Amino acid sequence: MWGAIEHLGRDDRTRGYLRDAWSPADLELRQWFRQEAAGRGLDLREDRNGNLWAWWGDPSERPGVVTGSHLDSVRQGGAFDGPLGVVSAFAALDVLRARGFEPGRPLGIACFTDEEGARFGVPCMGSRLLTGVLDPDRARGLTDDEGDSLAEVLRGAGRDPGELGRDPETLGHVGVFLELHVEQGQDLVHRDAPVGVASAIWPHGRWRFDFRGQANHAGTTRLEDRDDPMLPFARTVLRAREAAERGGVVATFGKFRVSPNNANAVPGLVSAWLDARGGEEAAVRALVAELVEFSGAEVSAESWTPVVDFDVVLRERIAAAVGGAPILATGAGHDAGILASAGVPSAMVFVRNPTGISHSPDEYAETADCHAGVTALATALEDLCGS
Ligand code: GLV
Ligand code: MN
Ligand code: MN
Ligand code: MN
Repeated sequence: MWGAIEHLGRDDRTRGYLRDAWSPADLELRQWFRQEAAGRGLDLREDRNGNLWAWWGDPSERPGVVTGSHLDSVRQGGAFDGPLGVVSAFAALDVLRARGFEPGRPLGIACFTDEEGARFGVPCMGSRLLTGVLDPDRARGLTDDEGDSLAEVLRGAGRDPGELGRDPETLGHVGVFLELHVEQGQDLVHRDAPVGVASAIWPHGRWRFDFRGQANHAGTTRLEDRDDPMLPFARTVLRAREAAERGGVVATFGKFRVSPNNANAVPGLVSAWLDARGGEEAAVRALVAELVEFSGAEVSAESWTPVVDFDVVLRERIAAAVGGAPILATGAGHDAGILASAGVPSAMVFVRNPTGISHSPDEYAETADCHAGVTALATALEDLCGS
């Protein structure tokens, strides 16, 4: 399975992946998912928000146990963030069938749409729409860097954007959700364990800062006559670092756009995206409030995800089933967190990442650890589905 998708959306110059939601690479990955489902005789369903579900058993009779993740990537991302959870889901199902296991309740594999929010800015778009925490009108109007709205992009992919929105019927099929993911940190390295289980996801969000100035000639405009938005932006980047250190949180300006983007012009507009996260919501909010005030920019909130505490009974049960795996919190967002917040008992299994690097082509997991992840997932599914 890994060999079938490894090359899709890969930039061979950098080894990074470009798998924006609804891009040609994403469409190919979705097609691969359908084929994997068909090859196993699973019942393939695509919900109104573009999430894919492959069922062994009928979830309208009884809500099932679902596992899976996403296939889109950040720009120049790694191979594992997302696809490892989907490939492992199919592999775990194969392990269960090879063991002769007959699930006592339906077992589903899910692929969520646009988890990273690389294209339209809002992460976990598919699960947010499904659970109703993202307004479909807002989603339809979100635009990508080319100025194309999600509604236009969906129409281009042959879908009806009018269908987007809360989907209680599909959500009702999910009795339990389990997401396997590459670890995005080095906790498991330090604990000398190939797999771990998630305890919590930090509260986190994204904000857009627009710094406005006056575009002008770089040679003829005297320094004292300039209104250069790059300066408040640069000061805000430094202030974010300082405030994050003071507040015990993390804050990142990882994306910005400068307009008109000429080497020989003072810019007229800088738009920059702040990603802020931390163990305490109040500390994250305080940092954002400080930067809004300090920057003088027009600021709009793009997404907010409150703290997620995964179901204690479920996580302990999974940790025990997989042989006493360590339990850890994470600063990364996941569809499992969105489902947990919507009241679906959810859990996550992490696979060790030797360097901890993620959202980069250097993201990595050893094959033996990936196999340990599949075994752990299969064991957890067996436990949750009953024999
Ligand atoms: C998703 O990977 C996120 O945490 O940004
Ligand atoms: Mn990610
Ligand atoms: Mn991910
Ligand atoms: Mn000129």
